[in-house]
Amino acid sequence: MKNILVTGGAGFIGSNFINYILDKRDDCNIINLDKLTYAGNLENLMPSEKKENYHFIKGDISNFELVHYIFEKYKIKHVIHFAAESHVDRSILGSEIFYRTNVLGTNVLLEVARKFEVEKFLQVSTDEVYGSLGKDGLFTESTPLSPNSPYSSSKAAADMMVMSFYHTYKMPVIITRCSNNYGPYQFPEKLIPLMIINSINNKKLPVYGDGLYVRDWIYVIDHNKAVELVFEKGKIGEVYNIGASNELPNIKIIKLILSYLKKGEELIEYVKDRPGHDRRYAIDSTKIQTQLGWKPAFTFENAIADTIEWYLKNESWWKRIISGEYQKYYEIQYLSR
Ligand code: NAD
Ligand code: DAU
Repeated sequence: MKNILVTGGAGFIGSNFINYILDKRDDCNIINLDKLTYAGNLENLMPSEKKENYHFIKGDISNFELVHYIFEKYKIKHVIHFAAESHVDRSILGSEIFYRTNVLGTNVLLEVARKFEVEKFLQVSTDEVYGSLGKDGLFTESTPLSPNSPYSSSKAAADMMVMSFYHTYKMPVIITRCSNNYGPYQFPEKLIPLMIINSINNKKLPVYGDGLYVRDWIYVIDHNKAVELVFEKGKIGEVYNIGASNELPNIKIIKLILSYLKKGEELIEYVKDRPGHDRRYAIDSTKIQTQLGWKPAFTFENAIADTIEWYLKNESWWKRIISGEYQKYYEIQYLSR
């Protein structure tokens, strides 16, 4: 039975990944290592927590002794690395923790993985490492890395380090680079949950700049199915872009959410732009589609409706979050804007 170390499994994408995998598979053990930062929430894992093949360890990926202990105890040969500081705005407010976790933390995992001769190390990365697009064009796997925010530069540094371990030590690594995710359990600092929750609460919806910045949206389950497929069948040493060809300007999504919730557009408030704001992201996912046979299963129309319904039905989940530590960040980020 495979023991898979999943890092960051209490966050948005990692928890959806674990719940998805353990719902259908009992032929592997998942060992979830998560520091439980503000973004980590064990409530996300309620569907999995009682399963015998699920194990949780609270800890930091930068802690060499702990990571070493976990590899030894669970005889880890497979790693899926989600753990990261993931929010661009937070990286602009303070970058240090981004480099500590995303770069140095990844280095600790790689060094221990090398010592224990892992059979597969999957680095979950992002399209933001490619920088920003103009009106035309798509990010392919050979687009040069050109990150613009402290967050994306920390992810790009980690990706380059992962590749250097492949070239230098022949470590069996693979990298996935996905576009913007949405779905259940997404922390309400990110665009879609923030706008849903503010609309429900009749709070202003802060739109950065002209609102015409474009992101390429994918439902989290489509992303996770792609991660699973790349983990099983991806070619060692390769990068796979993941995206659902669903480009939308921010303002269009915000208006769609308002209309779904039957709220008026007077809630929209244009605010000062994000510094260094990337104009457009768009993914070319031809490689994973043609080489591994992946394609997205969810339409934006249906999955965004399901997502809004999920936030409506799970008020207690997000109310606990917005009443706590997150409130302090919200004040710094928005009240003086
Ligand atoms: P998230 O912020 O929701 O979750 C991150 C998780 O990592 C949290 O549970 C947190 O507690 C944990 N963590 C943070 N620092 C840690 C540390 N030092 N040690 C152990 N655990 C730690 O992030 P997410 O949106 O789920 O993103 C997961 C991964 O996917 C990240 O690597 C991110 O770069 C990548 N990604 C995200 C998106 C997106 O749209 N959200 C798109 C593409 C790629
Ligand atoms: O592209 C993948 C990346 O997508 C991931 O690597 C990151 O982890 C994830 O956070 C996300 O980054 P973005 O910066 O694109 O996502 P965010 O939800 O923060 O913002 C989406 C867009 O909405 C962006 O153009 C900024 C804008 N925005 C965001 C917030 C939070 C607003 O206009 N107002 C807001 O309040």
